[in-house]
Amino acid sequence: MKPCEKLLIENKAWAAEKIIQEPDFFKELAEDQTPEFLWIGCSDSRVPAEIIVNAQPGEIFVHRNIANQMIATDFNSQSVLQYAVDVLKVRHVIVCGHYDCGGIKAALARQRSDLTLVNKWLIHIKDIYRLHQAEIEHLETQSERVNRLVELNIIEQVQRLSHTAIIQNAWKREQRPILYGWVYGLNDGVINQLITLPPGTQINSIYQFADPPSE
Ligand code: CO
Repeated sequence: MKPCEKLLIENKAWAAEKIIQEPDFFKELAEDQTPEFLWIGCSDSRVPAEIIVNAQPGEIFVHRNIANQMIATDFNSQSVLQYAVDVLKVRHVIVCGHYDCGGIKAALARQRSDLTLVNKWLIHIKDIYRLHQAEIEHLETQSERVNRLVELNIIEQVQRLSHTAIIQNAWKREQRPILYGWVYGLNDGVINQLITLPPGTQINSIYQFADPPSE
């Protein structure tokens, strides 16, 4: 059997089992989605959003990219954020990174000249490293340095969320969403919380809007 055939067979089995457990499962889901959570995670195959928090279809709106980044010029992640906050009205936005992240490891190494696009994506993590270089270089092992940059990157991405007009508008008008930075351990499967920014958190004035923010 070809690998993709296996996926399709598994899908049929999964759909059939869902209907046995809950006959209206797909009928109800097909009508609407009202997720409470936006999940911004890493593309890493070992960190599947719904599975690690035991969530069902319909519960989490998901965006994943290399090293769970929110980059202001990236229409993909920014439009996911806008749709989740302004249309779906999510109450919680979670950035969930993970220890031993390949994207972070790559950002701590020299650039590979064949990976021209990946380099552009990872350059933002190199910038975070440079901001915290003294703290990171103080650590003894490369593994500790990678994992500290994993944490600092997650915290930075949560802060970047708070710098967007999308979040600042929603905080001002509707006192939501709460922003969270979480880190997942590949070794134990456990998520730890690193940072929480509730609506109205005071942010550095250079990221505030002089006028009511527009999107
Ligand atoms: Co990763």
